[in-house]
Amino acid sequence: MLKTQTEYKTFGARESTYLRTSMTNIVKIRLAAPGDLEGMMRIEDMCFGNERFDSDTVRAYLARKDAFAVVAVTKDGIVGSAMGTASSRLGCGRIGSVAVLGDHRGKGVGNRLLEACEMEFRARGITHFLLEVAVDNIDAIKLYEANGYRINNVIGGYYSRGKDAYLMEKDVAMEGRRVRIKPS
Ligand SMILES: CC(C)(COP(=O)(O)OP(=O)(O)OC[C@H]1O[C@@H](n2cnc3c(N)ncnc32)[C@H](O)[C@@H]1OP(=O)(O)O)[C@@H](O)C(=O)NCCC(=O)NCCS
Repeated sequence: MLKTQTEYKTFGARESTYLRTSMTNIVKIRLAAPGDLEGMMRIEDMCFGNERFDSDTVRAYLARKDAFAVVAVTKDGIVGSAMGTASSRLGCGRIGSVAVLGDHRGKGVGNRLLEACEMEFRARGITHFLLEVAVDNIDAIKLYEANGYRINNVIGGYYSRGKDAYLMEKDVAMEGRRVRIKPS
């Protein structure tokens, strides 16, 4: 498992573009700590409104051994967060939320938060990831599809006002394995 406060170093093309265009406001991704609760609740309030996690839920993501949270941080504080739970028994990781403040969207931060969650799952030996997303949340669905998640089911009335959710899944168990073709 990655250590608390460890900064994820993902230097993809998206990040380098972002750094070039915004050197004064570099966004770092790291595992969240209990002291991040207030900043994370601000993200919940601003990004999810009535559907936000309450502080007990976020506290549980920060405290539980089978859960974790990552945050995106600038010099001004936390601008994004993502949370996950990891079931080693079922071999599956569930992403509970990914959120980025409005001013920081479209710059690859959501992508990096999602990558950080996947790195944390992999560090725990988990290679199957899943999440639920509202069927009309186009930005989020695009983010997940671009990262290899596929819609596998519709969950009727998943959200509080009866809105449906897509169940999206990604499996990386076979990634990097060589396919051997027997000579005939
Ligand atoms: C969904 C959400 C997390 C996406 O966050 P984000 O930071 O905007 O996501 P990214 O920037 O990584 O990717 C989004 C788009 O930005 C663009 N982008 C990525 N890197 C970029 C860069 N370096 N420069 C410019 N644009 C870039 C991409 O074009 C991408 O769009 P695409 O899907 O067409 O490829 C954000 O919209 C959000 O917080 N929504 C509200 C909360 C929510 O609904 N969360 C999902 C709950 S399931």
